[in-house]
Amino acid sequence: MLCVAIIGCGGISPQHIKGYLEFSSQCRITALCDIYPEKAQKQKNAFLLNDAKVYSSYKEMLQHEKLDVVSICVPPYIHAEIAVYAMEAGSNVLVEKPMAASLEECDRMLETEIRTGKILGVIAQNRFTAPVWNLKQIINSGVIGRILFAQIDSLWWRGHAYYDLWWRGCWDKEGGGCTLNHAVHHIDMLGWIMGRPKKVTAILANLAHDNAEVEDLSIAVMEYEKGAMAQVTSSVIHYGEKQALKFQGEYASISAPWDVHTFRSQENGFPEDNSELEEKIKKQYAGLKKLEYEGHTAEIADFLWAVKENKRPLIQGKDGRLTIELVSAIYKAGFTGAAAELPLKENDPFYTAAGIRNNIRKFNRKGKSVENFTDNKISL
Ligand SMILES: NC(=O)c1ccc[n+]([C@@H]2O[C@H](COP(=O)([O-])OP(=O)(O)OC[C@H]3O[C@@H](n4cnc5c(N)ncnc54)[C@H](O)[C@@H]3O)[C@@H](O)[C@H]2O)c1
Repeated sequence: MLCVAIIGCGGISPQHIKGYLEFSSQCRITALCDIYPEKAQKQKNAFLLNDAKVYSSYKEMLQHEKLDVVSICVPPYIHAEIAVYAMEAGSNVLVEKPMAASLEECDRMLETEIRTGKILGVIAQNRFTAPVWNLKQIINSGVIGRILFAQIDSLWWRGHAYYDLWWRGCWDKEGGGCTLNHAVHHIDMLGWIMGRPKKVTAILANLAHDNAEVEDLSIAVMEYEKGAMAQVTSSVIHYGEKQALKFQGEYASISAPWDVHTFRSQENGFPEDNSELEEKIKKQYAGLKKLEYEGHTAEIADFLWAVKENKRPLIQGKDGRLTIELVSAIYKAGFTGAAAELPLKENDPFYTAAGIRNNIRKFNRKGKSVENFTDNKISL
């Protein structure tokens, strides 16, 4: 039976707790930690975690408990510090997105994973949703051919008060704005499907949150080998939150939410329907195996399997790192006004959190700082 702890018992923590509880024959939650221990106690009571001991210090918890798995659900600026400490203390680590706020921190986490022989997983739970999972299977099958262009709409809406929470909206704590903290999901999926681009250009703005230092809108264009392109819009100003991933292949375009279009060319180059290919792709999609679990629960199932079998989980540190590299490149391009060439090197100013802080512009000054919201229900 694996012993599990949750560090950080705020908004996202119930998703982790529910996930582990789903697999109660494999693991049990034996510790909960939050700098506000009453928040850990609240989760303990809400989920009837009678075996769980409450701590206010993660170091004390890791010194006293034998923990096989630790979920890190704290703000981004301390993901790396806690992950490194936990792996050195002998725990496998499942860290919330974003993996960290900079590539230097990601590399420290990856080095610790190798040195300690522990397993590091990074949350990107939206890969485990039917539309995204299935899209990847269709692309992998080769039926749409080479991808020519991807259009990624990571469109969210957050009210002004969202950035009043003490750690949000600050470069030194949240590590960035909607590109790092919201589009991280879509950028993970883009990286999963298309890998690392050669070059990134971007523009950034803050249009509706004058209590945040960080951007609330960014538009980036990525260039890949053989000229393929991707456009990524990251936003927290979009009413309706209509998110989409659209891929134009050589033979067809497909999207999540699921959609498919194909044409064949007439003699003069104008399009006409290619219903045979469209039907073939639709049939292939309908025949795909269903996911047993979705979201956090699915990723936790995969992580528990990896720990039990001493294998790598589907979403590893290197995947979290690629996402941070793409986000860092968007910041570099957005703030310098020049294209960022990838890979970003260790001597690049945007490789470290301090380097990023020295090279960005604060859009606004954060005035108000709320310690804890009374009602902290979140939507994913
Ligand atoms: N996967 C998703 O869809 C998703 C959604 C929301 C948030 N998140 C991520 O989860 C993380 C937490 O976000 P949240 O919305 O739950 O924030 P939150 O502020 O609601 O919760 C974070 C908790 O961590 C605690 N904390 C802070 N520093 C700590 C420390 N040193 N030791 C122990 N506890 C500490 C805080 O007191 C708070 O209770 C962030 O990285 C965020 O990006 C992921």
